Amino acid sequence: MSEDLGRLLDTRRVLLCAGCGGVGKTTTSAALGLAAARRGKRVLCLTIDPARRLAESLGLASVATEAQVVMPEVFERAGLDVTGSLTVMMLDTKTTFDSLVDSLAKSAEKRDRIKGNVLYKYISTKLAGTQEYMAMEKLYAVKEDPNYDVILLDTPPTSHALDFLDAPERLVDAIDSPAVRWFLDAFQQSGRLSLNLLQRTASSVLRGIGRITGGGFLEQVATFMTEINELFGGWKQRAQVVASALRGDDVAYVLVTSPDPMSLREVRFFAERLASQGVRPAAYVVNRIHHVPDANTPPATRDDVAAVLARHGLDLGGDGPERILEAARMERRLGELDQLHLAALDGASDTKTPVLHVPDFPRDIHDVGRLAWVADVLVGPTPGAS
Ligand SMILES: Nc1ncnc2c1ncn2[C@@H]1O[C@H](COP(=O)(O)OP(=O)(O)OP(=O)(O)O)[C@@H](O)[C@H]1O
Ligand SMILES: [Mg+2]
Repeated sequence: MSEDLGRLLDTRRVLLCAGCGGVGKTTTSAALGLAAARRGKRVLCLTIDPARRLAESLGLASVATEAQVVMPEVFERAGLDVTGSLTVMMLDTKTTFDSLVDSLAKSAEKRDRIKGNVLYKYISTKLAGTQEYMAMEKLYAVKEDPNYDVILLDTPPTSHALDFLDAPERLVDAIDSPAVRWFLDAFQQSGRLSLNLLQRTASSVLRGIGRITGGGFLEQVATFMTEINELFGGWKQRAQVVASALRGDDVAYVLVTSPDPMSLREVRFFAERLASQGVRPAAYVVNRIHHVPDANTPPATRDDVAAVLARHGLDLGGDGPERILEAARMERRLGELDQLHLAALDGASDTKTPVLHVPDFPRDIHDVGRLAWVADVLVGPTPGAS
């Protein structure tokens, strides 16, 4: 199985890790980035909000948004042979939006007017879909960069995996909706939005806003919308170009999930949506699977546990061994449930898409050595490494 992801790292330019919130997207993308660097690739990891301890362990300033190279000493200290390189860029929605406006604005005056608008801060950070869309924009910006062989894209912590794919549409809906268009037309015709005109509109929302804020605020909104549409050469077209760049053959989708049925169902929906756009996921990664003890190993007895506790000088009270045995039974039960849920994914996924299983390690993956544990499970030992 693990050869499949190794082959992906050798043949695809972009690997995009998507999935529900908290399932291990950032960990998987970082582990795949490390695996690719160990295979001699020059890797760029576009990541979002990695755990502070992981960033520290890689020697990265966790607030910096420019490209940061992981120093070879970091790998040496962890005993890892890394023949390629690993560069990390942390995605920040506002910074990406800012540099997009900087690069597209035709004049400094226009750029300053857009960035100075009261709406700008909201649109560039809070509007639903902006974060996901900006991750796509960033990828679009670096996709052809000749300094990198492989680019890993981590996706934002949305509760639904599909939010990522729908982001351009949602943004376009918000910025280019019929209501907004009506609003812009009205503004452009009259040159200014009079309260009178607002009173006559059918939209109770606009009427309400007009009453509360007066015409000035709405004028700012209309100016902003017109300018931002101009800037992007039509927001809708821009979003389409960026989104379609993500459907190319050189982009591989790695769908990350936990063994939880909800999360599994979500990645299957995601795969169906991709399929409807002619894209097949390159792999599923099922992360944090509970361990099921070997059926041939007899379960520990109370005396076994008591002996181990005594050997380590641990006193957990009279019922200590029972509590430990109960925890072990729970763990086994969780493992059995995971296997049951996984069977559903195996049955539903088309047989050609590899499904990788990553165990729930006893500790968080917060340093480069542990990242290598995950990399080894996903990709296997590095070819040619001793
Ligand atoms: N296989 C694993 N074993 C143990 N801990 C893990 C494993 N995979 C991930 N973790 C830990 O789980 C936590 C969440 O992982 P991660 O940040 O990668 O998830 P995410 O999908 O990126 O979350 P978000 O949606 O919030 O961005 C981290 O603390 C990470 O170290
Ligand atoms: Mg994350």
